[in-house]
Amino acid sequence: MQALFAAKMGGDAPLDNIEIGERPTPQPGPGEVRVRMRAATLNRHDLFTLQGIVGYPITLPRILGCDGAGVVDAYGPERPAGTPDPGSEVVLYPISTCGHCRGCLSGDTMTCRTWTLLSDGPREGTFAEYVVLPALHVIPKPAALSDVEAAALGVSTLTAYRMLFVKAALRPGQTVLVQGVGGGVATMAIAMAATAGVTVIASSRTEEKLEVARRLGASICVLAGRDAAKQIIAATGGDGVDAVIETVGEATWGTSLRALRLGGTIVVSGATTGANPPAELGRLFWRQLRIVGSSMGTLPEFRALVSFVQAKGLKPPVDSVWPLSRGRDAFAKLAAGDHVGKIGLLLSGTA
Ligand SMILES: NC(=O)c1ccc[n+]([C@@H]2O[C@H](COP(=O)([O-])OP(=O)(O)OC[C@H]3O[C@@H](n4cnc5c(N)ncnc54)[C@H](OP(=O)(O)O)[C@@H]3O)[C@@H](O)[C@H]2O)c1
Ligand SMILES: [Zn+2]
Repeated sequence: MQALFAAKMGGDAPLDNIEIGERPTPQPGPGEVRVRMRAATLNRHDLFTLQGIVGYPITLPRILGCDGAGVVDAYGPERPAGTPDPGSEVVLYPISTCGHCRGCLSGDTMTCRTWTLLSDGPREGTFAEYVVLPALHVIPKPAALSDVEAAALGVSTLTAYRMLFVKAALRPGQTVLVQGVGGGVATMAIAMAATAGVTVIASSRTEEKLEVARRLGASICVLAGRDAAKQIIAATGGDGVDAVIETVGEATWGTSLRALRLGGTIVVSGATTGANPPAELGRLFWRQLRIVGSSMGTLPEFRALVSFVQAKGLKPPVDSVWPLSRGRDAFAKLAAGDHVGKIGLLLSGTA
């Protein structure tokens, strides 16, 4: 089958590590399903893998891609009851867990000691004609979404959902600051929070992206920079926001700490511009702030997210869609960082 894979990792030109070509078609084992892929979207995680920044050792060559949508092709032995029939359109839940560690048994499977994302650890990724994953990890695809939009639910939308509704536990009438507008996490965080009745303040480096944020439902938009926190405090009657959705990292961290109300929560799931800003511990304890890490989400959260998106008629914004053969150009677009929404790879489906 055709696939886009990392032939090497690291070096000065990580995109040169990409190869597009033949890889063996995978066979589903017991309790597994093989999906004929229609679309996937790029995540910064794929870029990190090319750069050699990996949480789990991986073997090369490694097919990239952590999310996707496709059609159930075949089950291995021991197909679980209730799984979608072959031929069904599905969206992929991207996380694998061990099922027996303390984290798995606690109910929050994202605290599994060895959780991995598709394309990490032992699992190949989704930038391929076929992918194999646990049979319980395919969910019927919302009919209103295109294949690329459905693929986008897997990593970035799920991450935004858990940050907003589980970690920050935001309720209607509260206020959230979303840092950065172009990324897949931020765009869907803005849209989902606004739809749920949360007042959204968006901050971005450019007026063009703030305009996008307004269209997605942000009611207050602020240019990133020195004055951003002051403007946010003023816009919230002097209080600050209940929560911050932080994925940008060093570039916005100071504003996140200053824009938060006393006792408020910053939820962090990424650090695109660097992971080591000053901690400002004095501000942290004096204002009794909470800083909470978050990654992806559990399978029940994924099911809840798919139902939420379906019920509210939301669609993940898509920046551009590329055929697999132009995968390198798609990665160049991600690396340039001027995209708004998800960058899609079309494997056999519709944009
Ligand atoms: N932990 C998890 O489970 C998880 C899941 C998904 C993503 N992530 C991480 O979350 C982060 C966000 O990912 P993403 O794909 O949604 O978005 P992204 O493409 O990494 O960009 C996020 C935002 O960062 C801002 N930005 C980018 N470069 C910048 C720079 N040099 N200076 C200042 N701001 C800059 C941009 O906002 P503006 O241009 O609007 O200012 C952009 O919208 C990534 O680091 C990713 O690895 C983590
Ligand atoms: Zn586990």
